[in-house]
Amino acid sequence: MENFLYENMVDIHCHLLPNIDDGPTAWEESLEMARLAVQDGIRVAVTTPHWIQGTKWEPQPDKIRDKVREFNERLKEEKIPLTVLSGMEVGISENLPELVSSGRILTLGDSNYLLVEIPFISLPLGIEEIIFKLKTIGISPILAHPERNKEIQKNPKRVLELVKIGALVQVTAGSFCGYFGEKAKCCVLELAKFGVLHAVASDAHSVDNRPPIVTDGLRVLEQFIGGEQIELLLANAYSLIEKESGLIRL
Ligand SMILES: [Fe+2]
Repeated sequence: MENFLYENMVDIHCHLLPNIDDGPTAWEESLEMARLAVQDGIRVAVTTPHWIQGTKWEPQPDKIRDKVREFNERLKEEKIPLTVLSGMEVGISENLPELVSSGRILTLGDSNYLLVEIPFISLPLGIEEIIFKLKTIGISPILAHPERNKEIQKNPKRVLELVKIGALVQVTAGSFCGYFGEKAKCCVLELAKFGVLHAVASDAHSVDNRPPIVTDGLRVLEQFIGGEQIELLLANAYSLIEKESGLIRL
């Protein structure tokens, strides 16, 4: 099988900013993660700190923007060819539409796409209503790693229902390698078979345990859907953010 070269990629879900969530704890580690990302072929990373209502993780958008600005300056100084954009991984809640409208939470690279985290056990009641309401205000929710949710692992077709009403799907590259267990691996391959993957991201948190690497997962996926389909998937990640963020395609 032809070995495709994956380069100039966009990672739409990673935790690269220091001291803001359970990601890195120092700029040195953030920069090291950036080096790893670049080595892996990533050129743009939308950094997505957790934002979960009513917890210690409710970072102000301005705080994230300031850190992203500083990060990009440091990357330039260190001559690391990575561009970082601001975003959030927002825990699902009924009032997501109001939170977006009031500017309390950030979309991906100031686009119309919002990265939404669902619980790891079950899907919240009324998830369809939340998706529907977001769509009516022009926001497309992207479900973060649904393959790691137990209810979806039992019934992957549930994702099809959510996609039908307007949700998009981001899966974690490590799921293809079995890093999140056999059930997550089976589930993510099932979703690939259904043709409902919109983006593969690293969900990186650190240099060691969860690095910003996507190619190992893409190589596994490549065996199932072929390199050309993966290239379409990678182009998709660009189209998710390039329009509104003014990102120039590399
Ligand atoms: Fe995450």
